[in-house]
Amino acid sequence: MNPIDIIIKKKNKEKLTYDEIAYMVNGYIDGSVANYQMSSLLMAICLNGMDFDETYYLTDVMLKSGDVLDFSDIEGIKVDKHSTGGVGDKVTIALAPIVASIGIKFPKMSGRGLGHTGGTIDKLESIKGFNCYIGEERFRDNLRNIGVAIGGQTKNLVPADKLLYALRDVTGTVESIPLIASSIMSKKLASGADIISIDVKVGSGAFMKNIDDARLLAKTMVELGKKYNKKVITTLTDMSTPLGNNIGNSLEIIEAVKTLKGEVDNDFSQLVFYFAKNIVKSALKVDDDKAVELVKESIESGKAYNKLLDIVKYQDGDISYINDINNIPLAKNIIEVKSEKSGYVDNLDAYKLGHLACSLGAGRIKLEDSIDYSVGIVLVKKRGDYVKNGDTLLKLYSNCDDNSIYVKEAIDAYSFSDNKKDNKLILDVIY
Ligand code: URA
Repeated sequence: MNPIDIIIKKKNKEKLTYDEIAYMVNGYIDGSVANYQMSSLLMAICLNGMDFDETYYLTDVMLKSGDVLDFSDIEGIKVDKHSTGGVGDKVTIALAPIVASIGIKFPKMSGRGLGHTGGTIDKLESIKGFNCYIGEERFRDNLRNIGVAIGGQTKNLVPADKLLYALRDVTGTVESIPLIASSIMSKKLASGADIISIDVKVGSGAFMKNIDDARLLAKTMVELGKKYNKKVITTLTDMSTPLGNNIGNSLEIIEAVKTLKGEVDNDFSQLVFYFAKNIVKSALKVDDDKAVELVKESIESGKAYNKLLDIVKYQDGDISYINDINNIPLAKNIIEVKSEKSGYVDNLDAYKLGHLACSLGAGRIKLEDSIDYSVGIVLVKKRGDYVKNGDTLLKLYSNCDDNSIYVKEAIDAYSFSDNKKDNKLILDVIY
């Protein structure tokens, strides 16, 4: 076997065998397959796809590239939630403490930003000292003691995905159903949860731009789960517009903290509530009303907020960042971008705003890029809001001195209409 023949096979739209996929993936890990060869294969997969068998082979090879966690010695039902990635999607940061404060174990494996989307690990690392790489022993201890631990992929947990994820991020090979399904499912299957809840984002700011592709991705992940006897629940949610008001690492931590204090009422807080309610329902086997009551109580009593403090403390973070969000450093320039039109905000394009946030420094363009946690965007006007000419649409948090190009990009992301349109946040549920 050699890498070139395998790349050519996929270039010619032929089906790869288990052994060929294993040869490439394991070779990439041990260095015998070069960066450019793996990139080339990834691009061929992006362009020519993979059928279900190949997707399953890839998932299995990735899953077996490292350790598979087993939390069966820790009491209680374990739930994991994952998002396919979006703009302003900080759901995990608010959801994890709510679910854990209700007594459901939440072992969470998260990722970094990918393409124009942000990642939970980058967001959490914007809290001074926060450590997502605490090692398996501490991860287990935290899960046992406080009911929740949030980890980044370690060297040993699906190392294949760790390497491929970073490579895809910088080679334009993210948007592919088999690559996304195998990346997510290999991690979820390795991370030892009993229930896997996946938020499949749909729209311009998501990797799945239309509902049909999103359904196919969702069904692929549900079917992959069945191969390993795992229950996978997928929820398709709108990502044509950013989730919540804040985009950018520190800004998103601020919005999550405020949500746990009950100070936010927007699409983000609604989605957190929705996932929390459904996780509580399936983990504790209670009805809708009871689940809603438990989630409300967790927020109103301050238990969820205190659980976030625990998470930060147990993972070496500086809790003064959470205790007083004014301690969180933000960019030196705040530029108010004004509307040049009047009307209802018809859309504000999640993809364009995700890119804008990345250009400001909130995400990576190259593998070795570092992130500026302090930059981002605060949306003042969201979809459905009425705007008058001259009103502030959004605020840019920037460390650049000349922001004229960003202001133009921000204005371009908005479109207006004379009438307010209805929008749905939850589009479908597949399991
Ligand atoms: N999230 C992942 O973990 N992997 C992908 O490929 C896309 C989103």
